[in-house]
Amino acid sequence: METRLRALQEEALDALEHTSDSASLEAFRITYLGRKGGQLTALLHQLGGVAAVDRPRLGQLANEIKANLERRFEERKQQLGAPVGKAEQQQTDLSLPGRYLPFGSLHPITQVMEAVCSIFESMGFAVAEGPDVELDHYNFEALNIPKHHPARDMHDTFYVTDSLLLRTHTSPMQARIMEKQEPPLRYIAPGKVYRCDSDMTHTPMFHQVEGLLVDRDVSFADLKGVLSSFCARMFGADLALRFRPSFFPFTEPSVEVDIACVMCGGQGCRVCKRTGWLEILGAGMIHPNVLSGVGYDPDIFSGFAFGMGVERIAMLKYGIDDIRLYYENDLRFLSQF
Ligand code: PHE
Repeated sequence: METRLRALQEEALDALEHTSDSASLEAFRITYLGRKGGQLTALLHQLGGVAAVDRPRLGQLANEIKANLERRFEERKQQLGAPVGKAEQQQTDLSLPGRYLPFGSLHPITQVMEAVCSIFESMGFAVAEGPDVELDHYNFEALNIPKHHPARDMHDTFYVTDSLLLRTHTSPMQARIMEKQEPPLRYIAPGKVYRCDSDMTHTPMFHQVEGLLVDRDVSFADLKGVLSSFCARMFGADLALRFRPSFFPFTEPSVEVDIACVMCGGQGCRVCKRTGWLEILGAGMIHPNVLSGVGYDPDIFSGFAFGMGVERIAMLKYGIDDIRLYYENDLRFLSQF
């Protein structure tokens, strides 16, 4: 009797699991719990026939099973009972705004680099890219910086081997571009450069955009014109510019270009170190040694080149005072641009 009771309970619970709607639930109720012809009721009736000693224990078990099945039946009814569609409707407030998916944005350095490139592209410059791991030859030698030249000291070079290094500027692209084709040519070359240096205003990796133009009769006035209109479009037309004599082994004459300090408008402040001016690029007329090094005749062709630091330009454009902010990947900073 006990085995049959327990087996019935098993069977009934299994059947209950398989009910899926009110009709199958009602069929379950009739089969197992029904007063007339229900299987449990039938077993309960047979209790009268068991030995008197076993009767109380089995009677209790039968009642427990009955109560259990009835409870589970009610639970199942609850589960299936609430009309599904309606419940969902109650939880869905169609007037709620959609869920917000945050948009990514381009890194400020990428944005400024693209802005610089598009200004020069609109002036007819083409874009070229070269390797970050560069030959000593292109980074120095071809740029009129032989071994033991003191100018190499300024570059804080990461060497890979004796003849291989991480480029310290984008100027190696000058030689790479010129040796592949004949003038006239107009190119810019954006990319990463590396120097062993790290503080508020230096990171070991940063970005430059190189530019060069070679043709017959290119003069310093052309260089001034191109860079002036670049600065006007990048920083605003009424910004003052200053061309200051400088030195690079691969240009002669050489200049550094300053813009009036964007923080103080030229009055003098901490950022411009009280000078009122901020340096943004180096430039000059391509040195005859560099031209002849790539097989051009310096008596026929002349040209100018310039190189600017992208982090620097972005700092000035957006008023950022610590270069390390670019590389900390803090979204609170990055999402402002
Ligand atoms: N390569 C120089 C630098 O990294 C900049 C420069 C480029 C100067 C081209 C002159 C001409 O500082």
